[in-house]
Amino acid sequence: MNIEALLQADDMLWIAHRGAKSECPENTLPAFIRAVEMGADMIELDVRLAGDGSLVILHDPTLNRTTNGKGAVSDMTLAQIRQYDAGAWFDLRFQGTLVPTLDEVLAALPNTCLNIELKTDSTARAQALVRRVLGCIYRHGAAGRVLLSSFDHAALADVRALDPTIALGALFVGRPWPPFDLAETLRLSSLHPDVEHLDPHFVAQAKGQGYAVFAWTVRSKEDLSHCVQAGVSGVILDDLTYQHAASSPI
Ligand code: G3P
Ligand code: MG
Repeated sequence: MNIEALLQADDMLWIAHRGAKSECPENTLPAFIRAVEMGADMIELDVRLAGDGSLVILHDPTLNRTTNGKGAVSDMTLAQIRQYDAGAWFDLRFQGTLVPTLDEVLAALPNTCLNIELKTDSTARAQALVRRVLGCIYRHGAAGRVLLSSFDHAALADVRALDPTIALGALFVGRPWPPFDLAETLRLSSLHPDVEHLDPHFVAQAKGQGYAVFAWTVRSKEDLSHCVQAGVSGVILDDLTYQHAASSPI
């Protein structure tokens, strides 16, 4: 499956938030592999620039919550980050799991569509992150199966300046809704509003203008039903078993 086909799909997409994070430690290879097994259409993951320029998959700016180490990713080398365990905090079954690199994820999942969220911390580092992420995607020949997203719309503009065609999505929190001229200027494929502020009129307007709408983050059945009623193109969700609940007869 390529990203363009997914973006045009009629059925609502199931996008695994940080992998199968209800069953596995988030943003790790076991979580991504499990998400594929569970039938996710796409996997969302967070990429950050380490101190030595490595691209690591981690949500927080520090190791503190999701590893047994401490410290800011931006101050550490990959070798330092890899000294720590990224699985045991979740469950001892995952002891020995390491923070993956983007390179490893693209190699481990050669046929999976990925929503790669760019986590930036400063303008200069954002530019380096963008260049390195694009380089990594090109090395894997993966441009046709990725959607890059970010809350940092300047970073999305940096991507677009370097690559005229790669799929881009803008993340937003709350209101006001993003101006559609930004979407047009950056030639976005998708808009990613938060579930709490989801508005069916906005969804209809965005879809009418050709943008997919991917809502984040579905954490409950109520969130899911809110998204379905609003008519979103896809949900970014924590628990992939909701797919079965959604398809079973009432
Ligand atoms: O991409 C959707 C969602 O991941 C954005 O929020 O904080 O979970 O990265 P966060
Ligand atoms: Mg994210």
